[in-house]
Amino acid sequence: MSKQTLDRILQSQGFGTRKRCRQLIAHGEVTIAGETVMDYRVSFETTGLSFKLFDEAWACREHVYIALNKPANFECSRKASHHPGVLSLLPEQFTWRDVQPVGRLDHDTTGLLLMSDDGPFIHAQSSPKRHVPKVYIAATHDPVTPELIEHLLSGVQLHDEPAPLAAVSCRALDRHHLEIVLEQGKYHQVKRMLAAAGNHCSALQRSAIGLLTLESLGLKEGEWCYLEEDQRNLLVPGTSG
Ligand code: URA
Repeated sequence: MSKQTLDRILQSQGFGTRKRCRQLIAHGEVTIAGETVMDYRVSFETTGLSFKLFDEAWACREHVYIALNKPANFECSRKASHHPGVLSLLPEQFTWRDVQPVGRLDHDTTGLLLMSDDGPFIHAQSSPKRHVPKVYIAATHDPVTPELIEHLLSGVQLHDEPAPLAAVSCRALDRHHLEIVLEQGKYHQVKRMLAAAGNHCSALQRSAIGLLTLESLGLKEGEWCYLEEDQRNLLVPGTSG
């Protein structure tokens, strides 16, 4: 990061247009190290800078990396149509910063969703070449059988795929729940694989991406947190931004 004027800093953090940021500063809404700064031309070193806006504390971040525990009935698409978008669960400035979901979860899937405004990170994390394992817990309509597990592990043919898709690992959690780990991120993949294997997925949660587990983050449904570098390193070595 670098030395920048306060209006540019606020703008870079997603607090609106330069004009709006200048107005916020002129109205005395911004405090740095306990001092209200009313001149937008004052420069600050952005590394390690924190400020208060409307009495809420923010740390300056070049990029944001966010983990959300996605509730059901929120859409990941940018132009959500039938349900509210996942961005509506985050503070407004993340929309201004162009934060986007990393990959997609279906509107009725819950669990760990990454979001960021760092393009290379999003790209690396979503790339099939990275083989990032994603762990899902699926509730099944019919009981989980050894044959079902075997079928998912050996590969099931989906009608629009050139080759069968296999789970990296799969195990029964109880009579109607299984944990399935996938490296691809095909459309409705878990639901379609379960259907193709003769069962039906009645509910789905993503519980981990790489070694980063939802449980370790302690987020309730609808809650989010920043992912710091050590947590991003759990996703897959070499992808942290
Ligand atoms: N597989 C699905 O079927 N849905 C998801 O949301 C994620 C993986």
